[in-house]
Parts: sequence; structure tokens; C-alpha cells
Amino acid sequence: MKKIIILFLFYSLTIAQNKSVEERIDSVLVLMTLDEKVGQLVQYSGGWDTGTQTVRPSEAHEKLIIMGKVGSFLNVFGTESTHRLQKIAVEQSRLKIPLIFGLDVIHGFRSIFPVPLAEACTWEPELVEQSARWQAIEAASTGLHWTFNPMVDIARDPRWGRIVEGSGEDPYLGSLMARARVIGYQGKKLSDNNSIVACAKHFAGYGGAEGGRDYNTVDISERTFREVFLKPFHAAVEAGVGTLMSSFNEIGGVPQSGCRFLLTDILRNEWGFKGFVVSDWNSVGELIPHGVAKNLEEAAQIGLEAGVDMDMEASAYYNHLADLVNRGKVSLDILNESVKRILRIKFYLGLFDDPFKYCDTDLEKKTILNKEIVNATREVAKRSVVLLKNENYLLPLSKEISKIAVLGPLANSKDDPLGPWAAQGKPEDVVTVVEGLKNKLGNRTEIIYEEGCKIDGNSKEGFSKAVEAAKNADVVIMCVGESRGMSAEARSRAYLDLPGVQEDFVKEIHKTGKPIVVVLMNGRPLTINWINENISSILETWFLGIQSGNAIADILFGDYNPSGKLTTTFPRYVGQVPIYYNHKMTGRPYDKSNFYTSYYLDLENSPLYPFGYGLSYTTFKYSDLTLSQNKMNINESITVSVNVTNSGKYEGEEVVQLYIRDLVGSVTRPVKELKDFRKIILKPGETKKVEFIITEDKLKFYDINMDYVSEPGDFKVFVGTNSEEVLESSFMLIK
Ligand code: GLC
Repeated sequence: MKKIIILFLFYSLTIAQNKSVEERIDSVLVLMTLDEKVGQLVQYSGGWDTGTQTVRPSEAHEKLIIMGKVGSFLNVFGTESTHRLQKIAVEQSRLKIPLIFGLDVIHGFRSIFPVPLAEACTWEPELVEQSARWQAIEAASTGLHWTFNPMVDIARDPRWGRIVEGSGEDPYLGSLMARARVIGYQGKKLSDNNSIVACAKHFAGYGGAEGGRDYNTVDISERTFREVFLKPFHAAVEAGVGTLMSSFNEIGGVPQSGCRFLLTDILRNEWGFKGFVVSDWNSVGELIPHGVAKNLEEAAQIGLEAGVDMDMEASAYYNHLADLVNRGKVSLDILNESVKRILRIKFYLGLFDDPFKYCDTDLEKKTILNKEIVNATREVAKRSVVLLKNENYLLPLSKEISKIAVLGPLANSKDDPLGPWAAQGKPEDVVTVVEGLKNKLGNRTEIIYEEGCKIDGNSKEGFSKAVEAAKNADVVIMCVGESRGMSAEARSRAYLDLPGVQEDFVKEIHKTGKPIVVVLMNGRPLTINWINENISSILETWFLGIQSGNAIADILFGDYNPSGKLTTTFPRYVGQVPIYYNHKMTGRPYDKSNFYTSYYLDLENSPLYPFGYGLSYTTFKYSDLTLSQNKMNINESITVSVNVTNSGKYEGEEVVQLYIRDLVGSVTRPVKELKDFRKIILKPGETKKVEFIITEDKLKFYDINMDYVSEPGDFKVFVGTNSEEVLESSFMLIK
């Protein structure tokens, strides 16, 4: 009888619409046993492993669900699978608390968009938001509630394989992209049927790994941590992100998945974050190899007390939390708080009102790969491409060309354009470059394809056939770069050259004297010095997703004039790394005429391509940089204006960039920082006046006392087409 009353009470409260979410959460919590509370903090992978092998309970997932010992699964998707497990949860467990299903939807579920580093090169937050929206629509239709994205780690070291998953080296651009993706994934309301909760990761500082080696030690100052690495996370929290994922790395001796300063003091007390934190895969368990926990029980206590609410795959909470609470080692209040945070997201998603709301099989069938979404992948893809070089205006190519040789290991690859973390993306959905050219040109042009060599490996056997194909063609398109498996997690590279014999292959084809376009497909900046010096046209296409070949053909033949700009600096040599535009002056800034300054003896010290760099088929001229005044106090603003003219013969888009430098501060300040940008479109001969507003908030930084303030003094303003080619002016902040 008592059981019936409890369940009646439970249903009446949790379903009663006039109860606030907080009241409904409390009404569930009061009914939960300690084991059921711990169960909500436990997440297991329902499918493949995306991390190290971990020790899982012997019971089958279904049994754990019935016992209320697991609250979430990752790598379970598809309405059939999610419906089956959800049914067990809400019909056979004692309290019928719904499960939450998460997956790495990083750039699409099945309709794969360009990798995030490519999307960032659009410099179009609103487009990136739309991309995330489409990804959410497709993912939600397959029963998913949660994506472990956006990855917002700032990366300044291209040896780090995960640079591909983020938005590059700049905190301002990275913050805008973080915000765009959170809003895109979460939609207008989390309770909408096509909204999924986002997860800002990896919290935090993961991209600062020494040597660019994944999972490696990070040792940065709190000032750099806050000025650079934390900015995009704060933007995600301000955009309302529902979850964050704590990272593997330590900072200054403290593993972030056990760092109370980060997960509670900053995240909750400073930023007011109300969602929940999930650990990265076994990152709670990895407090043991880190050497801050001697066993899994200690790891569980450290993780929970630091602020990790949900334990992904470590079985630390599953095995030890109840006992730690019963022995008074861990406070029940802390545990209750974590349970409430997780229940809160489940309520916001509407899972208590309708646990099967994401299990509509008909919707799934008509949403996956639907035409609108596939077309959107092509639109985003073409806008993600960066034109690195176009000497002699070889591009755009004429559609009247009679014979094209398309060469290289990536010219007809169905797999690599998907890029890493491609969820359920399938090679059969990919349009290769060869296919894209055929789609574009029909039978008018003869396309000769030769692989020539593999992405990796030493064999040059295929060179001769490729040379013959090149000799018989009017123009050669060479698709070279990395495989999709050479970047992302656990895929750091010590060298940044083209792998294998690909550069030799380009050199061999170059000997034919034919006009060559190099199309790069890669997940990180590459040191392509020889190609840059000897090949007349170079496109950076990253991994563009399922419409890769069509988007590249759009650009090659001028149906879209490339407008992308780099969001990561390209070094000339790996020895320059880390190299990034917003660096400090040092006391001895590089000066060609002075030996005792900061440089390398054995190479040109500038980057191969700077942050913000990207060309167009047209040209743009900047003029008349003007400031409304050259002084401002903290309550005023300065309007910066510049005229931009399309001085070429094609309509084109230009990203006009505003940088600011604080010349003297209570601490050293970067030589410049991106503070605003505007993407404009100009017809040939057209001039537009672009305006930016400088207010005090654009001048703030963490001063000598770690207060986030502006300081009076002199500032420089730079406006231009990238972080190096700029017009310059100055102003003073007075207080
Ligand atoms: C992986 C990654 C993380 C991912 C998680 C779940 O180890 O570090 O980015 O979201 O596990 O797949």
C-alpha cells in the first residue's frame, strides 16, 4: 500500500504542470534511495569505446537500468535502441526516471558538415549556428537528447590532433563560435522536440598540452588561462549551455576533473552555471595515474567534491559513492546537488513529461539525410574553404576546359572528407572531388583520375601513370593532405609536413609544366613551404563533409568565390610552434637589424600564413581608416570606420577585421587582439564604409591584481584583411 501511495505522490508531483521544475525535482529526490541517487550520476557507453578500456559492471545494461544504477548512456542512438532502453527505465525501474542519451555529434549525425575548424573559417557565427541547428534536428530525430559539443578548446599548437575539433587560436572568435553552436544545438527551448542539450568541452585548458601531445601536461598562468582558454567556455555558459565536460589534463599540478577551483569556484560561484558537468571518458578514474588519488574510491570522492556531477565510464561513482556517503566521507548534500543538476536537465528536456518524445521512427526516417540538410552541408562547406594562393589567376577555371587530370590520394576518397568524429556519417554519402567535377562539368570535359600515391607510405609506383595523365591534360588538380585518422583525439603529429611521399608527388607533377591547383584536405595547419613557393593556386579545404566534392567544384569553377579566412596560424616549420598572432612583445621583439632579439637563426621567422588570412578571386583595397575621436573615457566609445573597395572583377566577400593593442599595461599585453569583424559582400568596383564601435569592454584584461579592468593609456587600432595586412591608427583611454 505504502508503495502505491509513494508512486501516486511521485506521479502527481512530477507530472503536475503547475509545479515548478524545482518543486518537481525535489519531489523526485525525496523518494530516491541513496543507490538511486548514485545511479543518476553514472554514465556508460552503450556501444563502442571512445576512450581507454574501463572496468564496467558485470550486469547487462538492462539490469542496471532496472536497478536504477545508471542514469545515462552515450553511443546509443536510433529510435529503436533508445526506445527499448527508455521503456525499461520508465516501466521497470522503481522510480521510472528517464534516461538521457548522449553522442559526439561534432559536425553532424549522418549528414556530415565540415569539421569545426573548417566551419570557423567562415567567420560567420550565424551560419555556424544554423549548421548546429540542422545537426540537432537530425540527431534529435534519432532519439538523441545530448551532444558532447561544442568543443571550445583554444589551440595554438597544430601538432595537437584535436585542433580540428575547435575554432582555432583566438578567444574572441572562439567565443562567438561557442555561443553560436550552443544556441544552434539547444534551439529556442530545450523542451522542443528538435533541441538537444549541448556540452562545452573540454573544461579546461586541454589545448595547452605541452608539445601538442594529447593528454599531456598543461602549465599556464591563471592570467593566460582566463584571458585565452576560459573565454569560450564563459561564452558558452552565458549562452545557456546545459552541460560541460571536464577534461583529462592537469593544469599546474591539478587534474581538471578533480579541480574544485575550476568546477566550483569559477564555474558555479563566479559564472553562476546551473547545469551539470560530465567527466570525460574515465577522466575521474585517471586521477589515479595522474597521482592525486591512490584508488578509485579516492578518485570518486575528489571528483564529486570538485564538481564533477556525472561519471562517464570510470565506475568510480558506481562502485564507491554510496559507501563514501554511508561512512560520512562524502556529504549527502553534495551528492543531492549533483542529482538535482542532472534531473533539472532531464526536466528541461521534457523527458519526465514524455520520455519517448525523441522516439518517433517516422520522423527519423524522413529527417536523416533529408535534402534540405544535405544542401546545407554544401553551403557551409563552400564557405569554409580558404584560398591560400592564386598566382596568375589560374582560378576560377573555365567550364570549357576539355581535359582535367585529377590526381592524388584524396581526389576520389569516399572516407576522408567525412573527417574525424563523424558520428554515423557514411562513405557512401560522400561526393568526392572527382565526382564533384563530373557533376559540375557533365560530359563536356574529360576527367582523368590517378591516385598517384597513398596518403602515407613510401611507394612512388603510381607516379608515372599520374605524370602521363598530367601531360595529356589542360590543367591538373592535385588533392593531397592527411587522412581523417590523422587528427582528433590521440592523434598528435610531431611533424606538420604532408605525410608520405605526397610532396614528392606534387614535385613530380610540377615537372610537367602543367598548371596545377593543389587542393589540401587536412585537420591541422601544414608546413607546405615548397608547395607555397612553386604551385600557383592552393585551396585549403580541411574536411568538408558529405558534399565535399560539390563544394570544391563550386569554388574551382567560380560558382562560389572563396571567402574563408584562417583561424589558426600556419607555421613554416614545426620548430616555430607554438606560433600565434596574439603573442607578446617580449623585451627583445624580433628585429632583423638586431642580433640580440627573439628569433630563430635558421629560418624565416614569420608564419607561412597568418591568422585571419584568406584570398578571394577578386581583390580588396582598404582606405580612409578614421576614428571619430582619438580620446575616450570609460563611458564613451569611439567609432572606427574604414572604406573597403572591391578592386577586382568578381563579386566577393571580405572579412574586415579589427584588432586592438594596449601599448602599456600593469602587465604585458599581446601585440594585437581580435576585437571585432564584419563579413561584407562587394560587387566589382563597389566601396562600402565599415564601422566598428570601441567601448571600454573591448579594452579590459586581467591586470596585475587579476582584476578584469581597463587601464588608461595609449592604444593602437588595426583594421585589415588579416592579422598582418592592416591599416593602423591610435587613441587614448583616459580615466
Ligand atoms: C572522448 C573524448 C570526448 C568525447 C568522449 C565521449 O574520450 O575526449 O571529446 O566526447 O570521449 O565519446
